[in-house]
Amino acid sequence: MEIIEIIKTRKSVRTFDGRKIAEEDIEKLFDYMESVENPYGIPVKFVPLDKGKYGLSSPVIEGEDMYIAAKVPKVEHCEEAFGYSFEKMVLYAWSLGIGTTWIGGTLNRPLFEKVAETGDDEYMMIVTPIGYPSSSQSKVDAQLRNAVKGDERIPSSKLFFDGDFKTPLDSAEEWLEAVRWAPSAANRQPWRIVKNDDKYHFYLAHTPGYSSGVDWDVQKIDMGIAICHFMCVKGGKLIIDEPEMETDEYAEYIATIY
Ligand SMILES: Cc1cc2nc3c(=O)[nH]c(=O)nc-3n(C[C@H](O)[C@H](O)[C@H](O)COP(=O)(O)O)c2cc1C
Repeated sequence: MEIIEIIKTRKSVRTFDGRKIAEEDIEKLFDYMESVENPYGIPVKFVPLDKGKYGLSSPVIEGEDMYIAAKVPKVEHCEEAFGYSFEKMVLYAWSLGIGTTWIGGTLNRPLFEKVAETGDDEYMMIVTPIGYPSSSQSKVDAQLRNAVKGDERIPSSKLFFDGDFKTPLDSAEEWLEAVRWAPSAANRQPWRIVKNDDKYHFYLAHTPGYSSGVDWDVQKIDMGIAICHFMCVKGGKLIIDEPEMETDEYAEYIATIY
């Protein structure tokens, strides 16, 4: 499957068919997890977790085989680095037919942090169940998808801009759809991109009043995911620039790709 196909067909899987993942698929996934990098150069460590051994579950997940947690050092840009690396793993899993769901809220956080052996200098931000997708959806899965409008996205004209935050970007390049269909916490899609010459400036449009009760900024994880989708399709180099752009009170500059 081409990367754009993987990105466009992936969705959160909350109902699995109860099968164990084939040895060869697990091996490929675990090997891949060892090799994942991100443009921030911040290491993200993946930790496979046996659900039976530790009694792990999530109230929104059914029929999963096991869980994967990931940890990142507590440093500047750790959220974006985490989002980028975790999404690389999610996309690779999907290419093998393995389903995932980013879980940052609907979990027993202290238990997952403990069994992932999270150090004082690390954040264990997200876990995912893994397994093969079921052909039917559990009731809670269907309700949740419906509540967050998981099958919908904000139109491109409100996300991608040309030169300033007022002029929608007129482009049919593949990266627009790739970024648009990225997953985000509660499907808020906080990414905004302003193209200036050959530079793409990424901004975080903070959802007013959004709080998730953790020490890190969850919407910066979303930004790392958007950057991952952009770079997977268009490539480029990431820098932290100083664009002189007029923004509103909610937009925070995150990074530039050129
Ligand atoms: C950082 C992050 C945290 C998330 N946390 C949860 C969660 O706790 N529980 C859950 O069911 N889904 C969670 N999601 C999944 C989103 O709800 C989902 O990606 C979004 O609704 C879009 O649907 P899709 O992934 O099927 O495209 C999370 C996604 C992200 C990126």
